Amino acid sequence: MEKYVIHGGKPLHGEVEISGAKNAAVAIIPAALMVHGVCRLENLPEISDTDTLLRILTYLGAKVNMINRSTVELDCTHVQMDLIPDQMWDMTRRIRASYYLIGAMLGRFGRARTTMPGGCNFGIRPIDQHIKGLTALGADVTLSGGFICANARDGHLHGRTIYLDKVSVGATINIMIAAVTAEGRTVIENVAREPHIVDLANFLNSMGADVRGAGTDVIKIRGVKQLHGGSYALIPDQIEAGTYMAAVAAAGGSIRVSNIIPKHLEGISSKLQEMNVEVEEGDDYVLVRRDGPLHNANIKTKPYPGFPTDMQPQMTAVLCCAPGVSVVTEAVWSSGRFKYVAELNKMGAHIEVEDQSAFIQGVDSLTGATVRACDLRAGAAMVIAGLAAQGVTQIEDVLYIERGYQDIVGKFRALGADIRCIDEPEEPARGWNAG
Ligand code: EPU
Repeated sequence: MEKYVIHGGKPLHGEVEISGAKNAAVAIIPAALMVHGVCRLENLPEISDTDTLLRILTYLGAKVNMINRSTVELDCTHVQMDLIPDQMWDMTRRIRASYYLIGAMLGRFGRARTTMPGGCNFGIRPIDQHIKGLTALGADVTLSGGFICANARDGHLHGRTIYLDKVSVGATINIMIAAVTAEGRTVIENVAREPHIVDLANFLNSMGADVRGAGTDVIKIRGVKQLHGGSYALIPDQIEAGTYMAAVAAAGGSIRVSNIIPKHLEGISSKLQEMNVEVEEGDDYVLVRRDGPLHNANIKTKPYPGFPTDMQPQMTAVLCCAPGVSVVTEAVWSSGRFKYVAELNKMGAHIEVEDQSAFIQGVDSLTGATVRACDLRAGAAMVIAGLAAQGVTQIEDVLYIERGYQDIVGKFRALGADIRCIDEPEEPARGWNAG
């Protein structure tokens, strides 16, 4: 079993280049199932979630040609399968984004069957809004025995107006993918506005779809007969960028975070500035510096453009050493997303969780300890805490971290961190927790 060993307490210096956005990639790869022809994807992150999805598509009959580490050519023209075969169930159960295969298969074949998705285990993760949307488009959707089955009632989907009762990234994406070839016009109201929603719309449009309004709360889609091949470069990962920004806030130092879209980071940048961290924006980079004491701050997560829930654990790790009391409130997920707090407390943090909020009493410094990555972003928070802590931190279950962060150890080492990955004898698998 791999684990990270960090000798903390060293400020970070240098430049880190951000990879393509995980949550855009895990939507765009399944959406490529809708494309007839060769679809070239650039700036793909090299993480295990994208690898898993590419393996699933290959199994379904897609030609997958890796051009280099971040570019792939996908040809799904001859894919015939409208159900995920049992050999793939282990993979579809590992990741959240496997449910986008439902939207894509339903849109393309009028039929789909796969397992219920996996994903970060931070409470109940309902999919009622996905079902509501796909049902409105004319599908019968059933959940039974851990599987999702969807069948278009008359063989194909029909555009409709759908109002989402809850702002959901996943439901917005699934319905968008299914609707691009539905007959007529689909209007989805109260949709998520995350940058990866816009990225998916841009990808679909560059392959011949007619999707408008992504980035606002209403998306309008005029169905087209089929999508054609093309080339598309994914946006950079706003959460990966935010994680390095948070790391320099916690450990001190001065870094340049490059290959980013600063606009996507505004919520994170302004919160860090409030915490006495300097953030200077360039065209496609930010300079982040912290050499004075941190200031305490309150954070409440919200759908984009609010403060991202996927940065909540990392910011809590930073606030552990801000004098005074900080309150971090989770308003997207349940308090299950605070499981990692117990791990931070092992490092000398003083955090109490009550209902949806973590109350953080700042301490002078954290102390290295053996902790585990409870899930992807919780794992990133442990890395940040370890970099800031005095002494040695060992992080277990790092597989979860590597599902969403490309070469996190190499990137932090290049910033001067003393972090390495060591391999220890295998223990029985505990299940998967990402995205
Ligand atoms: N919800 C419902 N019904 C639904 C769908 C969602 O009630 O049908 C609720 C959820 O329970 C939650 C809220 O709506 O309280 C938001 O859920 P959403 O559907 O937006 O989340 P998701 O699509 O399952 C994606 C990301 C998560 C990220 C959330 C919120 C992927 C693969 N995952 O999940 O990313 O936290 O959006 O921004 O895109 C991560 O990257 O670490 C991660 C967990």
